[in-house]
Amino acid sequence: MKTVRNVGRLFTQMWQTSPGLMLGSIVLRLIVAVQPPLVLYFTKLIIDEVVRQTGLGPVEANWMETGRLNLLGLFLVGEFALVFGRDLLQRAIQVLDALQGELHSNRVSIDLMRHAADLDLMHFEEASYQDKLERARRQASSRSTVLGQVFGQVQSVITAIALAIGLLVYAPLLILLMALAILPAVWGEVRFNRLAYWLSHERSPERRQMEYLRQIGASADSAKEVKLFGLGSHLVERFRLLAEAIYVENRRLTIERTAWGALLGTLSTLAYYGAYAYVVWRALNGDFTIGDLVFLSGSFSQLNGYFQQILIGFTQIAGQALYLDDLFSFFDIKPTITEPANPKPFPVPLKQGIVFDNVGFRYPGSERFVIRNLNLEIKAGETVALVGENGAGKTTIVKLMTRLYEAEEGRITIDGIDIRDFSAADLRTNIGAIFQDFLRYSFTARENIGVGRIEETADLPRITRSAEQSLASEVIERLPGGYDQQLGKQFEGGQDLSGGEWQKLAIARAYMREAEIIILDEPTAALDARAESEVFARFKSLSESATALLISHRFSTVRMADRIVVLEQGQVREAGTHEELVALRGHYAELFELQAAGYR
Ligand SMILES: Nc1ncnc2c1ncn2[C@@H]1O[C@H](COP(=O)(O)OP(=O)(O)O)[C@@H](O)[C@H]1O
Ligand SMILES: [Mg+2]
Repeated sequence: MKTVRNVGRLFTQMWQTSPGLMLGSIVLRLIVAVQPPLVLYFTKLIIDEVVRQTGLGPVEANWMETGRLNLLGLFLVGEFALVFGRDLLQRAIQVLDALQGELHSNRVSIDLMRHAADLDLMHFEEASYQDKLERARRQASSRSTVLGQVFGQVQSVITAIALAIGLLVYAPLLILLMALAILPAVWGEVRFNRLAYWLSHERSPERRQMEYLRQIGASADSAKEVKLFGLGSHLVERFRLLAEAIYVENRRLTIERTAWGALLGTLSTLAYYGAYAYVVWRALNGDFTIGDLVFLSGSFSQLNGYFQQILIGFTQIAGQALYLDDLFSFFDIKPTITEPANPKPFPVPLKQGIVFDNVGFRYPGSERFVIRNLNLEIKAGETVALVGENGAGKTTIVKLMTRLYEAEEGRITIDGIDIRDFSAADLRTNIGAIFQDFLRYSFTARENIGVGRIEETADLPRITRSAEQSLASEVIERLPGGYDQQLGKQFEGGQDLSGGEWQKLAIARAYMREAEIIILDEPTAALDARAESEVFARFKSLSESATALLISHRFSTVRMADRIVVLEQGQVREAGTHEELVALRGHYAELFELQAAGYR
């Protein structure tokens, strides 16, 4: 049932993509379908006519005038037209299918990207969803062949019915014989298709690992470290082990399948010759003409072929449809972060600020609360620095604030409004956030900043303004192509930047938003001390009006914030100005002393 439903879904999808091409393909295939029995019938007519003519004695020299061979000529031309026409139509079908296949594959890729954009961050960070995504991606480009198969199948069925009608009229017994030959083959096909699918399905995590190994084993980003640590052969070995395990399973399946196929194939060959002997016998007894003999043995042989094809086709389609399930079940994943029915407008300008009210949060699939009983206030216009050891939950706080994840307990409000009452897009538009693992787009410098507010990429003044605020302008001025310089190693002509230079571009993206709230989650880690201090000084002057959250491990930066919050195991441990916290002689003072001592 699932198979049928998935094929149905695929049909709808293809129909929506290109109704004209699909209709054309169907109509042409219907015409082609009835051709084989017609050709056989013409052959029979020709043979019978030849036999009749030989009985009349040798052909006279003036056969053209007597018209003795007119009928024969007509049959010959008829058969020629049938064969020639089929050839033309077949080519046309190929063209239509190829065009449709490409359109469909493009469409699925687009749908895939669209859907991925709608999903929650959770769906990308959790392994089980990643497997789904990986499987869907693999299916996206290759599944349109199913449709050609289904059409081919319908075509075969019609041809088989036409052939069977011929057989039924002459010798119904032959149909029975046929069924005997076919059934074992069906069993074999069903069994092995299932096995093949399960193998591929079960092995998805390993394949993802292999993909990952291949990627780090041969990519620009990893080359430096792989070379230095001499990881090359280790990676190869890990890949080889995984690949071998899968290979061994596949080999066993292939051999088993072929052996069974050979056995079952013998059965149908036996059936064919049994039928042949039967028809020959009846022809000898004068029940059939020579033409009938050719027609029947031809029909039987072809029908046998078509039957096999149809049954194999059905199980193959079912097999393919199992893979379709991977694709469609990815499309069936629904975002869990829901939009409010009546979203409230985001308060611009911000008047009160952001409040975390007893917030608790666990990552999906984990028992441990990463954030618990968190109470935190960031007043409008205030710059708050968040410090804490690795894993304290700083990044998680940013994810919750931007609704990449939903808080499990408590609530987060902005100017008193629960952030769940904003539309997620509106909320994110008003927050300029850069994470520590920001993206290095292999786009131009200008686009790298422009993506911070994609609707405004044409606004060059805004881009240069953002670049100046984040010091990215100095980087860009040194590039040969300036703002239009292609960056990254991915494409030809691209220029790579240093970690700190990339960071300046990334920070410019946050400014590009010109948002009410700015969040920098350790994006300054790769900047040198002077650059960070300068970036932050500008950040301060800029964020006079804006509300800002800054996460950094560098105390020289942190101390410039209006207020510092020390986070420990997802809770606020201390809060206050630098001076207050130092005077408190608590955790902050200890960490600060540790860092300061290093400079003395
Ligand atoms: N996607 C995730 N799934 C499960 N656990 C996570 C995930 N991301 C982070 N964690 C865990 O949550 C804790 C806090 O992480 P994070 O907020 O990134 O800390 P940091 O303060 O260093 O930014 C860590 O212990 C980390 O292991
Ligand atoms: Mg972090």
